[in-house]
Amino acid sequence: MNLEKRLWLESLLFSFVILLLFTLYTFAFYQKGDLYIFNKIFANASVVLISLSMGLASYSYFFPKLLHYLEFRKYLGLTGFYFVLAHAAIILLLQNRFPFPVYFFQQETIAAFLFALASSLVLLVMAVVSHSFIRKRMKPRIWRRILRLGHLALVLGLIHFGIKSSVFWIDWLTYFFPIFPPPSLIAFLVGVATIALRILMELSQRGIIGKK
Ligand code: HEM
Repeated sequence: MNLEKRLWLESLLFSFVILLLFTLYTFAFYQKGDLYIFNKIFANASVVLISLSMGLASYSYFFPKLLHYLEFRKYLGLTGFYFVLAHAAIILLLQNRFPFPVYFFQQETIAAFLFALASSLVLLVMAVVSHSFIRKRMKPRIWRRILRLGHLALVLGLIHFGIKSSVFWIDWLTYFFPIFPPPSLIAFLVGVATIALRILMELSQRGIIGKK
């Protein structure tokens, strides 16, 4: 099996493990399992995969044992993007809850929708340029710059679901009920930790803070 195929296979296996863990946790949390819940599973799993893909460089800067996993970045990022597509497609199927386009253009929902669109657009551009046909035809400097936009996509995605879900997180942090946190809070914290480590890495590389 060639390297590309092996990396795809291992990344897909890993992504399905993440999806399965979110499935079990989300079913247990909401005590039901319909399309509405499956949408949440794909959405939260996508955030974790995109975070891992963007974060592997900074994780391995602070934990060099992870350097070996850098080669998985592209495949985890692409799978995360496919999960985002599944999330958006399921939203369109859930016309009763999220009638399109009316639902998305209300005062309370438009901001979250615009952040979702912007994040999806950046992810789409990254998915396109990650293809070897396009990559070979681009200047390496520009190609690397575009791939750095991944962190922007992650931040936009975090704001997108943070706007709506933060009410439930504050509720949970106030009463600690149910005992386990909402799945979206777990995904959010993975994303925030990834952005924080990236900032620390930049500061460390510029000599502003020392590496441990
Ligand atoms: C055009 C694309 C998108 C649309 C139309 C969309 C729409 C939505 C909607 C309507 C919700 C609320 C769902 C609910 O109340 O259960 C939601 C939640 C969410 N979205 Fe998106 N979204 C899009 C893109 C994204 C992207 C790019 C990401 C991540 C990078 C993302 C991650 C999430 C997450 C994690 C949640 C919270 C799930 C939960 O409640 O557990 N979405 N999205």
